[in-house]
Amino acid sequence: MQVTMTVNGESVTREIEARLLLVHFLRDHLALTGTHWGCDTSNCGTCVVWMDGEPVKSCTVLAAMAGGHDVRTVEDLERDGVLDPIQEGFMACHGLQCGFCTPGMMMTTRALLDRNPDPSDGEIREAISGQICRCTGYATIVRSVRRAAQQEQQAQQEQQAQQEQQEAVS
Ligand code: FES
Ligand code: FES
Repeated sequence: MQVTMTVNGESVTREIEARLLLVHFLRDHLALTGTHWGCDTSNCGTCVVWMDGEPVKSCTVLAAMAGGHDVRTVEDLERDGVLDPIQEGFMACHGLQCGFCTPGMMMTTRALLDRNPDPSDGEIREAISGQICRCTGYATIVRSVRRAAQQEQQAQQEQQAQQEQQEAVS
């Protein structure tokens, strides 16, 4: 069968088997290997991508079901060579050890910050509760997300101050 979907802003069409999972479609058909496949039981969450803006475990979605939808993967976090604050946070706060869980963690926590720009540690832990870090780096993951949230809030405040200054001058 043929499937067409938008992946990271581009329309893609491929011939696939009806039983193909989205995680394998992304990795094997589109070479987007940032999305990892870590279990057979839908438990680990390393395969999380966005579908229409919502984080989903791509091992629980058939590629055919993603037809006509908008999929975003970890490869889309960096824009024009600029890392997303979530990526910077993981880098600065050592939010990864082996890095296997990292793509899924970043996609989930990016979605969290988009909905809730100032999450508590408890809310961050709840957001990633469906995901497993085999290196048990949860404390640094939470710290990484908190840093990203702070950075974004700071950037927003600076932008607002600049805007107010410009308005005052004009
Ligand atoms: S590969 Fe999807 S939850 Fe583990
Ligand atoms: S950093 Fe190794 S699994 Fe999370």
